[in-house]
Amino acid sequence: MATRSVEAGWLPGRPSTESVRYTRVAMWLHWAIAILIIWNLVSGLLVWDLAAGFFKAHKAFYGFGITSHLSSGLTVLALTIVRIGWRLLHEPPPYPDTMKPWERHAAHVAHFLLYTGMMLMPLTGWAILSAHPPAGSAGAKVARSPMGASPMAAPANGAPGAPPAGASKGPPPPPGIWWVIPLPAITPIANIGLEPGGVEPQHVLHEEFAEWHKIGGYLMILLLILHIGGALKHQFLDKEPELQRMGFRARRRNQE
Ligand code: HEM
Repeated sequence: MATRSVEAGWLPGRPSTESVRYTRVAMWLHWAIAILIIWNLVSGLLVWDLAAGFFKAHKAFYGFGITSHLSSGLTVLALTIVRIGWRLLHEPPPYPDTMKPWERHAAHVAHFLLYTGMMLMPLTGWAILSAHPPAGSAGAKVARSPMGASPMAAPANGAPGAPPAGASKGPPPPPGIWWVIPLPAITPIANIGLEPGGVEPQHVLHEEFAEWHKIGGYLMILLLILHIGGALKHQFLDKEPELQRMGFRARRRNQE
């Protein structure tokens, strides 16, 4: 059943205003996801764009960059699924009355696009890493740079694409998610490169995923600027308690 976190008169100086806040769980999810997305944008731009030369030359930094990037992004995906579930069960607090209809509409559209990005960015990133011939497959033997055997975990013994006993498994898979959980490839994407004939189409797909992921990253930056700019406008120009809606301070009741 939908619940609403409503607090009356918590804002100093506005005792008669009905003030509303997100639930504590929603706040934690919001700030955890925000920090992780910022890390993804910073690490993505540094490792593959602004400081790509440095990271190519320093393997240890590159390893840290890619593992923390993929781990942070997949955690965003998991937390976003939890956040969507929580939001379906807990109605968000209403917008302040002073918000104009176009502002509400813009906020809805921005939020929808942010959720879409929080799902699609990790999925396209995972797809990039999966778009390599599975280690030990016939495709991996003919793949040339920048392709090569899959950097992901090799398929299990007996599964399509599993390396024959004793065969080289290709380059070692990268450390897993947060250096602990092995990251499996998205099998239908990895299996495109099982045979030599599939290597080139898979490479084209790899480049397309990388391009979508890059464009998505820039769109995410744009959306975050709009999102943060809107919140600051309501807080400081419209003098509404916008940040407190998502803040941890001044909370008195409904500690969900
Ligand atoms: C919220 C989640 C994510 C965001 C915001 C994000 C953002 C970015 C950005 C901005 C870049 C740099 C693009 C460029 O300038 O070339 C990048 C690159 C990359 N990301 Fe992500 N990323 C996310 C999740 C993931 C995940 C979960 C994975 C893997 C499982 C991943 C794998 C990659 C890879 C492999 C590249 C390099 C692409 C290339 O070869 O050009 N990303 N990411």
